[in-house]
Amino acid sequence: MGPMYKGQSNKLNPCDDIRHRRIWSKSKWCGSLPRVLVIGPQKTGSTALYSFLAMHPALVPNLPSPTTYEELQFFNNNNYLKGLDWYLNFFPANLSNSSQMAFEKSATYFDAELAPRRAHALLPTAKIIAILISPSKRAYSWYQHIRSHGDPVARNYSFHTIITANDSAPKPLKDLRNRCLNPGKYSHHLERWVSEFGAHQLHVVDGAALRAQPAAALHALQKFLKLSPHIDYNNLLKYDAKKGFFCQVTSGEKTKCLGKSKGRIYPPMEERSAKFLKRYYTPHNAALSKLLVRLGRPVPPWLKDELSNG
Ligand code: A3P
Repeated sequence: MGPMYKGQSNKLNPCDDIRHRRIWSKSKWCGSLPRVLVIGPQKTGSTALYSFLAMHPALVPNLPSPTTYEELQFFNNNNYLKGLDWYLNFFPANLSNSSQMAFEKSATYFDAELAPRRAHALLPTAKIIAILISPSKRAYSWYQHIRSHGDPVARNYSFHTIITANDSAPKPLKDLRNRCLNPGKYSHHLERWVSEFGAHQLHVVDGAALRAQPAAALHALQKFLKLSPHIDYNNLLKYDAKKGFFCQVTSGEKTKCLGKSKGRIYPPMEERSAKFLKRYYTPHNAALSKLLVRLGRPVPPWLKDELSNG
């Protein structure tokens, strides 16, 4: 099946189209599509959340994609043009029982302009999960991440130079600044997801809470997803002092943590960068706080903190 609907005016879902269903491979059907999407953004603990959810007996993760660091990244980039048939390759055709749901996590969905509309066109009843930490911390973690991946601009310029680059700066610098800072304008992106899916299909995980007390955050998330059975993650996760975060209990005292790329050691953010970002994100954080109140959701402590005068 080729590319699907491109514009807003054409929202025909191929899963509802009898002509599509007739020509389709017998081994594929829309019933295997994910019912839960973890949308990121990047560097908020989204991989930890994904791995914790994958432990749940009622949730079945996507099979890994060899080309995109295990994320499918279907709704946000050219993988979308490979069509539904490609996307379906990553989900088991038959789940072992009817209470199971497939899910996927692509942290680049969150801030991708077209992702909410495309995702809603195919998965109108999906539950959407965003995970948020302080946008300043996220920006710094993202910089460290791409720097360690050898990004030439991040290697040549300091974090402070990148975040404070103005519009007369060279294009590569401006582009990196935008990629670093834009995902942290959380309310702007969340509004697009809310307007497509409605508030009742969206859950916001506080990434700081997931990091500090994963069992409590996962309790709330299971309730939102109405998962059965409801499991107690206190028995499944254990704090690893060496790593500095919770990891999966395997057997006895042993734990399995996420790989080296998570929890890198890097110097603390410079005071001047922290100050700059606090001011930069203030209007966005204020809008996020308002949005969460409007949706009847709790305002995370880090958000109150970012909006305080201290
Ligand atoms: P740092 O690289 O700044 O340490 P994502 O998976 O969304 O890219 O997020 C990566 C970040 O999640 C890492 O940030 C890591 O510290 C953080 N994280 C929080 N809880 C974690 C956990 N239980 N296991 C691994 N990483 C975790």
